[in-house]
Amino acid sequence: MTDTLRVQSVAIRFGGVQALTDVNFAVASGEIVGLIGPNGAGKTTLLKIIAGVARPDSGQIVIDGEDVTALPTARRVQKGLAITHQIVRPFRSMTVLDNVVLAAGHRFTSNPLTVLFHRARKAEEERAAAILARVGLAGQELKAVTALPLGHLKRLEVARALAVEPKLIMLDEPLAGLNHREAEEQVDTIARLNAAGVTTILIEHNLREVLRVCRRMLVLDGGRIIADGDPHSVIADKAVREAYVGKAADHAAA
Ligand SMILES: Nc1ncnc2c1ncn2[C@@H]1O[C@H](COP(=O)(O)OP(=O)(O)OP(=O)(O)O)[C@@H](O)[C@H]1O
Ligand SMILES: [Mg+2]
Repeated sequence: MTDTLRVQSVAIRFGGVQALTDVNFAVASGEIVGLIGPNGAGKTTLLKIIAGVARPDSGQIVIDGEDVTALPTARRVQKGLAITHQIVRPFRSMTVLDNVVLAAGHRFTSNPLTVLFHRARKAEEERAAAILARVGLAGQELKAVTALPLGHLKRLEVARALAVEPKLIMLDEPLAGLNHREAEEQVDTIARLNAAGVTTILIEHNLREVLRVCRRMLVLDGGRIIADGDPHSVIADKAVREAYVGKAADHAAA
C-alpha cells in the first residue's frame, strides 16, 4: 500500500543553524504518530516543509505517492493535507462559524474570502456547524473569536484544519497552554478523528497525552531523527533519555 506521507533525506539550514539533517520517515494510512523533541529540535520546521510553507535545501516530500516538493501549500491542501499552528491564527474580527466557513473554502478556491459571499453559503454554514460540534464547540458558533478562552481557540484551530476534509492532519502543539482536563478532551477529539480515518501527526511536549493515543513515536533532536518506533521502547531508549526525555518521561510514567 502507498504511504500517506514520505519524508526523504530532508535538510534545511537557516544561516548558521542546520535545522534539519537527513530526515527520513514514512507514515502509513491511518497511523497516529507522535513527534517529540526538545525546544529547537526542528519539529515546526519539519511541519512547515511538509506543508510547503518552507522549502527544504534538499530532499523530497511525497504525499500519496506523488512528489509534492515543488507544489505550493494550496495544492497540498487540495491533496488532503491540513496543519494546525503552534500559535493559533484565527481571523479575530470574525465569528467562530465564519472562521470555519472560510477555512473550508480552501477545498475549492485559492481565494476563500469569496466563500463568504458564495451562493452555497447556507450549506457551508451547516457543514461548519457540524465540524464545530465534532471538536466540542457546539453552541459557540456566533461568538466573536476574541471572546474565546485559549482552550476554545485551540479547538477552533483543529476545526479549521478539519474543514478541508484532510486525509492527513499535522498538529503543532495542540495542547500547549491547556489544563489537564482540556488537554485530555482535545486529545480525545484527535483520537476520534484518527479512528474515523484521518492519518495524524501529533507534535507535542505533553508526553502523557502522546503516550495515551500514539502507537508510534518519532524523536527529533538537533534536527535529526534519533528514534522511531513503539512509544514505550522509544522513551526507554538510552539515547532518547539522554538527549531529551529525562525528567519528562519519569513524570509521564509516574
Ligand atoms: N525562519 C527561521 N530563521 C532562522 N532560524 C530558524 C527559523 N525557523 C527555525 N529556526 C531555527 O531552527 C531550529 C528549529 O526550530 P523549530 O521551530 O523547528 O523547533 P521546534 O522543535 O519546533 O521547537 P519548539 O518545541 O520550541 O516549538 C531552531 O534553532 C530555530 O531557532
Ligand atoms: Mg515548534
